[in-house]
Amino acid sequence: MKKLKIGLFGFGVVGQGVYQALQRTSSLNVSIHRICVRSNKPRKAPAELFTTDREILLTDPGIDVIVEVIDDAEAAWQIARTALLNGKHVVSASKKMIVEHLGELLDLQTATGKSILYESAACASIPVIRNLEEYYDHSLLKGLRGIVNGSTNFILGKMKEEELDIRQATLEAQQLGFAESDPSLDLEGIDAVNKCCLLLAHAYGIVTHPSDILYTGIQAITPGDIAIALSKNQDIKLVAQAQKLSTGQITVFVLPQFVAKQDVLYGVRNEYNGVVITTHFADEQFFYGKGAGSLPTASAIVSDLSALCYGYKYEYKKLQRSDRNSLTNEVYLRVYLSYPDAGKVRRQEFEWLEEWHQEEGRGYLTGVIALQKLIDNRWWQRDGHSLILQPDGIIEEVVTRNLRRKSLELAGLVI
Ligand code: HSE
Repeated sequence: MKKLKIGLFGFGVVGQGVYQALQRTSSLNVSIHRICVRSNKPRKAPAELFTTDREILLTDPGIDVIVEVIDDAEAAWQIARTALLNGKHVVSASKKMIVEHLGELLDLQTATGKSILYESAACASIPVIRNLEEYYDHSLLKGLRGIVNGSTNFILGKMKEEELDIRQATLEAQQLGFAESDPSLDLEGIDAVNKCCLLLAHAYGIVTHPSDILYTGIQAITPGDIAIALSKNQDIKLVAQAQKLSTGQITVFVLPQFVAKQDVLYGVRNEYNGVVITTHFADEQFFYGKGAGSLPTASAIVSDLSALCYGYKYEYKKLQRSDRNSLTNEVYLRVYLSYPDAGKVRRQEFEWLEEWHQEEGRGYLTGVIALQKLIDNRWWQRDGHSLILQPDGIIEEVVTRNLRRKSLELAGLVI
């Protein structure tokens, strides 16, 4: 096995984790040759390793692999692109960069014969990408549901267990190094939808962009929503979900969901992530592990480096298949919506309503709405509305809808 020499970009939380993990993994035939950082200052590694000149790493013929763990997607893209063109493999943790440029990265890998691996970019320590890529035939894959953002899971836990407000809980996630430097990427579901796109590419061979996917985060969740979940023995989790419908098409979204106690995702706490994969013959399988943090993220990077030592590359086989999968938004979702002002709730957008509670200050309803309507009109993301998917909340068809609507009208429940 050839010894791999690494050029490391970034020495923040993750970069330091990579450095420490490699120090402690003597069995791995790799060594850090240079580290590129933004500014010179004392660091916990020999000073001669550091430079602020990215070209030194990108043009050094002695460097085989660029490990890129910086916090700037555009700079990460320039680094990854140049590294591949210069004949180096890349290991990256930049989910946003990979999702934004996946098509170009596929072409670059074909053109250069070099590889980019990014196991750490989705669910950090959990080896979900390589398993989806290698183990699961896409025709047998019924769906996946995952808590893919550690910070929001941590924050929701703090809001529930310690009654912290979202701001305080976010601050803690930042201090512990889980949150993005701009935590709105976590809170608004942007980080989760990026990871969801990565999972889709390897699960189903679908290359798509977050703007094509319905997503929202936990930014609007209130203590009242959490109390309602508790009263039903449920929890609220931010979940990325892709499901194969009876038509064979895939529906996908990232939404807060009520999760029942018997759901394995219920037990995923703190910064942990969990992905439930459902297949035709195996039924449910569950992947669980730390989804953020220095060493857990480094652990996936170390695994990618180890894979590179024996010549591993993603083959994206599902993208080449004749029975390619496609996305659809033609489903209905059973949702809960809480609101401060009943007058601003667009009841007419719903297929039907199931419950309607008006209390002092804040009310809520439950009902069924077309996913496409949630995409087309974002009223539910404004004016303090909080939308949460109900357990088993995907409905493929609403053939009985008129009958149900009529019966609810008669019961005085539909306005
Ligand atoms: N901010 C991310 C999270 C870091 O909380 O999951 C790991 O990707």
